[in-house]
Amino acid sequence: MINAKIIGVGGYVPEKIYDNAYMESIVDTSDEWIIRRTGIKERHISADNEYTTDMAVKASEKAIKNAGISPEEIDLVILGTVTPDYFTPACACVVQKAIGAENAAAFDYNAACSGFVTGITIAKQFIVSGTYKNVLVVCADTLSKATDYEDRATCVLFGDAAGAAIVSASEDGSGIIETELGSDGDLAITALAYRNNDEEIEKRVSHKKETIWMAGQAVMKFAVKAMADASRRVIDKAGLTWDDIALVIPHQANYRIVDSAIKRMGITNDKVYLTLEKYGNTSASCIPVALSEAVEKGMIKKGDKIVLVGFGGGLTWGAAVLEW
Ligand code: ACO
Repeated sequence: MINAKIIGVGGYVPEKIYDNAYMESIVDTSDEWIIRRTGIKERHISADNEYTTDMAVKASEKAIKNAGISPEEIDLVILGTVTPDYFTPACACVVQKAIGAENAAAFDYNAACSGFVTGITIAKQFIVSGTYKNVLVVCADTLSKATDYEDRATCVLFGDAAGAAIVSASEDGSGIIETELGSDGDLAITALAYRNNDEEIEKRVSHKKETIWMAGQAVMKFAVKAMADASRRVIDKAGLTWDDIALVIPHQANYRIVDSAIKRMGITNDKVYLTLEKYGNTSASCIPVALSEAVEKGMIKKGDKIVLVGFGGGLTWGAAVLEW
């Protein structure tokens, strides 16, 4: 039976850093408050002329190299973002051309911070149906370009990054074992596109409609339950228990969310890999960036079972259990 397996991952973060001292210089906040309430110390920020597709190309090239395939072997490029360069063309098409994936179809999708689990779930469907052999899933966001730097409740949270994975057909039974996606359509996190809505614009400190606004407390409550419960369900469906899981890589939004979710899961901190302190919340790329770091550090061995779990705007959630 054909399964879908991640055979290469890659991450990219831009050079420029906004540390907590910089955040103190632009809004009424403190290093102490940010660390105590979020766990974040630094965020990487794209250059003025560096956009989502530029970062996505860099992460994709690393994933392709690590997978040991050629760009021509890729059948499909899918890209998850909430900060596209263009409404059209899709960022995936720009990446497809830039990396030389000349035989690939390409499209974008939007599941906000749940984008990586959503992407590997989409890739798996194309692979197990026999339609495609190699799918590039890439998540990239320049959240800094959509951040309201007058709003201290959101601007301390976000950074920029890209993360990519090659998902390929596997016949050895390992790979993506189970996934679950969900949505509740709640407008607790918004950034407006064409829609005009005075009430929404009023909520923003800067009154700039394209910036991200969020009901922080409501999102936190949702996130803890969604991440813990979805993880448990995919583990159950896979016929596994938490004892079988070597590592959990959650969406890296806020240390308090991760910590509460871990407690609800009933696992210990040493099973969880975090990059939150140095990158903050980089949307859908949090999970693949952390995954590629964990792989590089040798923290994931062949045969290990790992859980990837995220939540985000939509509101959406997604969980996956994989055998590496
Ligand atoms: N520095 C100092 N004080 C602050 C800051 C700050 N950076 N931000 C908020 N405060 C203040 C508030 O104004 C409030 O003051 P008040 O009591 O005088 O009104 C006080 O701190 C408490 O505010 P809360 O919002 O209740 O603080 P909370 O403990 O909830 O932390 C936070 C806020 C960090 C935003 C938290 O709610 C959170 O992390 N929520 C989830 C965010 C998230 O995970 N989003 C993910 C999705 S993003 C995406 O999809 C792109």
